[in-house]
Amino acid sequence: MKIITIPLTQDFKQLERAMRGRSADPAHVRLTVGNESTAVVGPSGDPILVFLKQALPASLYKPALRDWWSAAKDDISNRFSAMATKGTPGINLDGTFTNRLRVPREILDVTPARQGIIGYSVANGKCYKTHLSVVHPELIDDHIELIELVDSVYKYHLPTMYARQWAQVANLPNLRIGRTAFSTGYFVKLLQCGYHPDLRNLRNVMSCIFSLGPFVGGDLVLFRWRVAVAYRSGDLLLFNPQYYHGNLSFTGARMSAVFYCEKNIGRCGAPGGLSENDL
Ligand SMILES: [Fe+2]
Repeated sequence: MKIITIPLTQDFKQLERAMRGRSADPAHVRLTVGNESTAVVGPSGDPILVFLKQALPASLYKPALRDWWSAAKDDISNRFSAMATKGTPGINLDGTFTNRLRVPREILDVTPARQGIIGYSVANGKCYKTHLSVVHPELIDDHIELIELVDSVYKYHLPTMYARQWAQVANLPNLRIGRTAFSTGYFVKLLQCGYHPDLRNLRNVMSCIFSLGPFVGGDLVLFRWRVAVAYRSGDLLLFNPQYYHGNLSFTGARMSAVFYCEKNIGRCGAPGGLSENDL
C-alpha cells in the first residue's frame, strides 16, 4: 500500500465551503490517485481516503450493476448541491412555498440522473426500511456477498474507524445490512455530482464507494486536499465524506454505489430515542 501525506500547504479548508454546488474541475486537482492501492493522509496523520485497486471481483459487481442500475430510478429532487444547481422552494397545494428547498423542476425534466436508496434510514424522528428495500429486498439479498466484502475490506484497512461505526449498529440487527456496519446503501447514476458534504452520515467514519459501468472520467475530487481518485469498476474507495467532494465530467454509463452509516441510526430503539417504524 502506497501512503501519501498531504502537506499543510495543500490544505484548502477555508475555501471548500464556497465550492458547494459547483462542479469539480481538473484545475482543482494536484494529485490523482488511481494506478495502485494508496492511502492518503492529512498533515496530522488522519486518513483522508484509502483507495483499493481492483478489490472487488467482476463476478460480484457485474450482477450488482445489472440489478442496481435499473433500481435507481428516482428523481434527484432533494440534492441541489450534488445536482450543481441552486435550490428553490417547492409549492404547497395552497399555493404557499415549502420550507425545504428542491431542485428546480425544469432541471429534473431534462437530466438523466437518477437515484435509489436501500437499507435503512431516519426521517422525521422515525427509523424505517427504505421503500426500495421493502419492495425489492433482493437488491440486498442477491448481493449480500458483495456488500459484506466491502464491509470486510473496510474493517481490515481501517479497524479503528470501523469499530466506531460498528458500535452504532451492533445492537440494531434490524437496522443494518446483513452482518455489516452499514445501515444504508445509496445508488446514483448518470450524475456528475457537484461539490457537497454528506450531512446524513455518521461523523469520523468512512463511506465506502465504488463506481460501476462502462465509463471514462468521473474522478472523485476532494477539493480541500486537491486530490482526485480515478476509480474504475472493481476499485473500492473508502473516504471521509465530510470533505466536500464532487466528480469530474465523464462519458458513458456510470453508476456509483455508496455504503455508509446514517448518523442518527444509533438513536433508534434506544430508551427515549427514535422508534422503529415500518420495519
Ligand atoms: Fe456525497
